[in-house]
Amino acid sequence: MKICKQHASLSQIVLELKKKGKTIGFVPTMGALHKGHLSLIKQSQKENDHTVVSIFVNPLQFNNADDLKNYPRTIDSDLEKIKKTSIKNTIVYLPIYEELFPKNDAFVLTDLNGMDKVMEGEFRPGHFNGVVHVVHNLFKHVQPKSAYFGEKDFQQLAIIKHITKKYCFDIEIKSCKTMRDKNGLALSSRNSLLNEEEKNKALILYSTLVEMKKQKENLSPKEALEMAHTLFKKSTLKLEYIHLVDSKTLSMLSSEWHKNSTCCIAAQCGNVRLIDCMSI
Ligand code: PAF
Repeated sequence: MKICKQHASLSQIVLELKKKGKTIGFVPTMGALHKGHLSLIKQSQKENDHTVVSIFVNPLQFNNADDLKNYPRTIDSDLEKIKKTSIKNTIVYLPIYEELFPKNDAFVLTDLNGMDKVMEGEFRPGHFNGVVHVVHNLFKHVQPKSAYFGEKDFQQLAIIKHITKKYCFDIEIKSCKTMRDKNGLALSSRNSLLNEEEKNKALILYSTLVEMKKQKENLSPKEALEMAHTLFKKSTLKLEYIHLVDSKTLSMLSSEWHKNSTCCIAAQCGNVRLIDCMSI
């Protein structure tokens, strides 16, 4: 496992690999790695000659200063985990803020088709601008053949697929299944901020999604959402939103199910904000 901090040293490695015709897979992360991240790394290692894993807590995508301050940072154990997982040729990129967002940054935000305005976008204004900016600049630095993202961040995945086309990046976006703990809680870096009692309470996200899926045959989307709200009223979590959307366009469903529908949910468990989703 190689560790690279400077953009120039990463560029040198990328250039050499490209000259040799080697393929590069890319797994962007904000650290606090869990089994979900490690499964993305393993998939990239299987499908590419070399894998770049970036670790960078991107301040531009946080709309809340406390959330940024409290975001878990566990760089030593992250490096240890990557080392243990690395079956082959792994480069860990730890970008420096000023190099990732230089003064002469050429980044121009593209139209996100309104996909940044709903759900996460409504509750975290500006969040996706920050995500798109960092992913754009990371793609320029790493120049991968494929990039790997988790399906848990469903809206982010849809937006990244969209901008990859818009910015004409020749990169294949690979989506990877959400990993869950034995009770169903979706793995997330933020789970490390929950105690055992909160983890149990947080299962309401998963159980609501499962119930929505079960009721698809019996209820309209509107009725299914009403049921979900009732379920949440009995819990101690504060529901931010639950929406049924078309999986590709993210347009909201109300009267009819679409062939590819996804239910997305966000809730506050104590001070910790959790999201989850399920294809319905
Ligand atoms: O999903 C994440 O961890 C982040 O949003 C990403 C894609 C690494 C960009 O900072």
